[in-house]
Amino acid sequence: MKSTPMLSRPAPAKHSHRRPAALDRFHFGVAFYPEHWPEEMLAEDIRRLRVAGVNTVRMAEFAWTLIEPRPGDFRFDFFDRVISALGEAGIQTILCTPTAAPPRWLSFAHPEILRVNAEGIRFEHGGRVHASYSSPVYRDYSRRITRAMAEHFRNHPHVVGWQTDNEFLCGFTDDHSEAAQANFRGWLRHRYDGDIDALNVAWGNAFWSQTYGSFDEIPTPLARPAGPSQSHRLEFGRFLSDEIVVFQGEQVAILREANPGWWITHNGCFPGLDYRGEFGRQLDVLGYDSYPFFNQSPQQRPASHAFNLDRVRAWTGNFLVLESQAGAGSGPWRTTETPEPGELRRLAYTALARGADGLFLFNWRTCSFGHEIHWQGVLDADNQPRRRYREFCQLGEEISRVGVALRGTSVVVQVAVAASDNDEALGDQAYPLTLPGPQKMAEGVHQWFFQAGYAVGCIHPTDDLSGVPVYVLPHWPIIHPDWVVPLERYVADGGTLVIGARSGTRDWTNRAVTDTFPGPLRTLAGVRVEEYGIRNTPEERPLELDFADASIPAGVWYEQLLPDADTEVVARWRGRHLTDEAAITCRRHGAGRVYYVGSNLEGALLEVLLPRVIAGAGLQRILPGLPSRIEAVCRENATRRLWFLINHNETATPIPEAPSGHDLVTDRGVNDGLTLPPNGVAVIETTL
Ligand code: GAL
Repeated sequence: MKSTPMLSRPAPAKHSHRRPAALDRFHFGVAFYPEHWPEEMLAEDIRRLRVAGVNTVRMAEFAWTLIEPRPGDFRFDFFDRVISALGEAGIQTILCTPTAAPPRWLSFAHPEILRVNAEGIRFEHGGRVHASYSSPVYRDYSRRITRAMAEHFRNHPHVVGWQTDNEFLCGFTDDHSEAAQANFRGWLRHRYDGDIDALNVAWGNAFWSQTYGSFDEIPTPLARPAGPSQSHRLEFGRFLSDEIVVFQGEQVAILREANPGWWITHNGCFPGLDYRGEFGRQLDVLGYDSYPFFNQSPQQRPASHAFNLDRVRAWTGNFLVLESQAGAGSGPWRTTETPEPGELRRLAYTALARGADGLFLFNWRTCSFGHEIHWQGVLDADNQPRRRYREFCQLGEEISRVGVALRGTSVVVQVAVAASDNDEALGDQAYPLTLPGPQKMAEGVHQWFFQAGYAVGCIHPTDDLSGVPVYVLPHWPIIHPDWVVPLERYVADGGTLVIGARSGTRDWTNRAVTDTFPGPLRTLAGVRVEEYGIRNTPEERPLELDFADASIPAGVWYEQLLPDADTEVVARWRGRHLTDEAAITCRRHGAGRVYYVGSNLEGALLEVLLPRVIAGAGLQRILPGLPSRIEAVCRENATRRLWFLINHNETATPIPEAPSGHDLVTDRGVNDGLTLPPNGVAVIETTL
């Protein structure tokens, strides 16, 4: 039998969580839909945008039919007028390729462009994102509209950048159309170098007699009894992501050829797309659509918002928030809470603190028709400026100072959680063992550090970990062998690495590794997993975790560990057949330490373990004496530091240890601490 091929990963990304956006200004504005309103409203809209300090708007991502009402009949007069009127008022435009909403004439003439779900059901026209990225017809029309727009606007002085499409993979990922089936087979043939035996071995197709005789026989993972294998599913997920890379790549090439001065972005980020790979390299800067009110709990919202932003930054670096919630969100499926006065501004500051190099609110005015009639914009549909508009103006006035200062700065991270790897998410999703996935686990760990006042962030294992004393790999089944040497170096140089259970248990095609767990991390962790299991009814068969000074109920997952001679035991199991067996270990390596945690990194375990990890690593809180629910984040460059202090409490909160410097929000000096009102923020600039 042939040995398993180790399929190559795309070349290492130059992206880094430290990378600032290479833009010449901080773009502040709104998603703008003048095509939804009488043109007579435009002048007053522009006046109000100017008053609010808007310097850029994003337009046209759903305007394909307006621009090309019939095939090949391109009309630009409307957007010409709007862009020029905005430009004369000093407001620049980011245009979008409008391909997220292909016109009815296209799907009517070519129903074969429509996507098909795993049950074989074809999506009909009437929503959006209904066309298959694999369809040659759709790709052809996508290139045509992109080229027509690019050529028309190539010399326009007020069009500064582009967004490709809108939110790739928003809502669903799969596509089983005929075009997708054909391209999947071609993609596999290329990936496995035409060697079907190599694919059969890599996927383990000897199991259940699934061996393929040729690439032509391979279907997409449509619904089937017992489901597809986890290798088939993971490879299909990678294929879907790569199809978008091809689709976007065609648009990007056309835009760059028309005007190399334009910068290009895309708004996301959704599961299923490898933003860190080629997709991100096609763009100048990644965009994120931020809707913190999807978390319904005001108490938990600051932490989940911070985690989402940090996760986005881990893909490619600083980013644009191309859509930031402007009011209550709503669809037929759910309505979010209405932001209280000051809440939107406060959460916008969390985005600025955690890597936003531009900010756009979604959207300018609530649209009274279509799918989102109660999704609130900055203005309501009756066009009366209310408190959300006043808050927007306040933010704009402050951003006129803060935005300039942010340019070229990176977010300071002292403790990081591994995140932002598409393979990891897909691999786990295909076989999750009914346990929380890597992202959920990462969020819990991130939240713990966030609430305890540490400079927490997310970093991909291949990124720069220098200056980050503590790094947590919460539970990453797929560990590429190439990642191990840099992690070893990180520890040898003094880093503290915490590895969660089940890490290193799968290979690159999602098969379980045949080395003793934790596979490629075994030597670094200094431990072997002798036995593992899930406890579906922990209350019926209790198990405890005993530390030297604390005892806590065990989580749902257990691993019985055999430590190497130089590895110490930090906690042992008590109960069942596991009493006295090692559960958590620590190995010193060079100047650092590696913890291996044979349980799920959640709940009470975090409370007991993380303070111990922190003490061993000498990690300090970002500011001494930081009061609870004050978020403190630093952004810095070689000469300056910006201290963001954000009050998530509903009461005024003194911060006696606030650094002295100039507060860009109030435009005043801070010398002896400060008190932030509810929802209050400060951005204190200091020199290094
Ligand atoms: C985003 C999308 C917008 C709008 C918004 C509110 O996901 O990009 O077009 O739909 O949500 O639902």
